[in-house]
Amino acid sequence: NTKKTLEGKTILITAGPTYEAIDPVRFIGNHSSGKMGFSLAEEASKRGAKVILISGPSSEKPIGKNIELHKVTSAKEMLAKVFEFYDTVDIGIASAAVADYAPKEVAKEKIKKSDDSLTIELVKNPDILKTMGEKKTRQFLVGFALETQNEEENAKAKFEKKNLDMIVLNSLRDEGAGFKNDTNKIKIFTSTEKKEFDLKSKEDVAKDILDCIEAQILK
Ligand code: PMT
Repeated sequence: NTKKTLEGKTILITAGPTYEAIDPVRFIGNHSSGKMGFSLAEEASKRGAKVILISGPSSEKPIGKNIELHKVTSAKEMLAKVFEFYDTVDIGIASAAVADYAPKEVAKEKIKKSDDSLTIELVKNPDILKTMGEKKTRQFLVGFALETQNEEENAKAKFEKKNLDMIVLNSLRDEGAGFKNDTNKIKIFTSTEKKEFDLKSKEDVAKDILDCIEAQILK
């Protein structure tokens, strides 16, 4: 029986990938399954929090009390949904793998095969977490960094740039970490601390992340 350490707290979690439409049948997406975000939602729910889970396309189903699931498709939809709730939130965790770019125009009809090459112009998507950081009042804000090189340096830069209280680094160079796997291997940074964890199930990684958040907000 889990202690209700987050009773009375509202946590907003973004999860999964975003899909950016190219035409009615195609999209730009990524390999996020949603598992990391859904594990966080389930563990927060066990600890008594009210959870607002905003997820891109994922086949995961949240299990637990007081988890409100909002499904979205694109980054723009995710941003709009986050800001329907942001004012009511005590803790925000951004575990979604949001597409940084989206097609400038969505073709109305299926694009026909014709020439040997096809160019799709992409434009920058909103940075959801950065916007959350800019509009932060009392929220404790946690971001993720998914890196393939210069991992710690890049994670620390994201921590600063997005005005975060904590960042969770996972690297695709670690076997069993990141996308799809049922496991992950993380490092957690705050402005003063660095913690390194072993490869674990995403359920256990979620526990470590929430333990660290609690240690910060309850101190
Ligand atoms: O879903 P799983 O298969 O379980 O995989 C989990 C995961 C690998 C997706 C997860 O652990 C993870 O690392 N999520 C963040 C992925 C990511 O896009 O990282 P990033 O370094 O590109 O982004 C940095 C942070 O900004 C992230 O918190 C991201 O949610 C946020 N972001 C990024 C771009 C954008 N336009 N809006 C954002 O909010």
